[in-house]
Amino acid sequence: MQLLEVRDLEKKFGGLKAISDLNFSVTERIIFSVIGPNGAGKTTLFNLLTNIYKPSGGSIRFLGREITSLPPYKIAKMGITRTFQNLQVFLNMTALENVMVGCHLHSSSGLIAAALRLPSVTREEKKVREMARQALEFCNLQDIAHMPASALPYGTLKRLEIARALAAKPRLLLMDEPAAGLNDTETMELCNLISRICESGITIILVEHNMSLVMEISHHVLVLNYGELLAQGSPYEIQHNSEVIAAYLGED
Ligand SMILES: Nc1ncnc2c1ncn2[C@@H]1O[C@H](COP(=O)(O)OP(=O)(O)O)[C@@H](O)[C@H]1O
Ligand SMILES: [Mg+2]
Repeated sequence: MQLLEVRDLEKKFGGLKAISDLNFSVTERIIFSVIGPNGAGKTTLFNLLTNIYKPSGGSIRFLGREITSLPPYKIAKMGITRTFQNLQVFLNMTALENVMVGCHLHSSSGLIAAALRLPSVTREEKKVREMARQALEFCNLQDIAHMPASALPYGTLKRLEIARALAAKPRLLLMDEPAAGLNDTETMELCNLISRICESGITIILVEHNMSLVMEISHHVLVLNYGELLAQGSPYEIQHNSEVIAAYLGED
């Protein structure tokens, strides 16, 4: 069984087809990259996979189950989490608190139990704190756990978002341009982190413009152009595909 199966997916914004006739599937435990020029529909695809946008047509199956009509929080609970092209970090919270937000999908205590501070809630909070701590540590952020997010540099905030997405213990992690704005050292660290996430058993769909990063770590690459699938294959096949070179990669 495929982890994710996308069939005849379509998204229209008025007269514009941001995604059309898109078909692909993703097997488990791989780094699957989606590349293509600005406006190709990459972020729209992520918004469809997480049901932030309703598709105009087609279907999305995750773990064999149709998820097209599920609300975003249920999709997250089933195991798809993401990071954003534009940072979505709470600047007035600490790093640890930001990551704890990602774990609350898994907390089961109700509001009344929380208000009464029943023992179940204290246990729950401990569990959430521990999950967040583990995610921070995995991303090498344990030393800044109690720093306010507002005091952290951009590269660290990008990593904090990854920690938050990991804290929810996903099966599939969607990363939207994680290397954008990072320097060379940070990009190398990111490359290493993405590989470790994959090795830990999580499948990754990576949207990224940094081609050396994509070609180095991906198992499979899909090229989108004007919302349509232009090509897919191994990094080697994509780098040598004349249509992809003409539309996007260029001769270099
Ligand atoms: N909410 C929206 N409303 C209208 N048009 C949108 C919306 N979101 C994206 N688009 C359009 O869809 C196309 C694909 O955008 P996007 O998915 O952001 O591309 P990419 O992430 O590949 O750069 C663009 O033409 C964009 O202007
Ligand atoms: Mg985008």
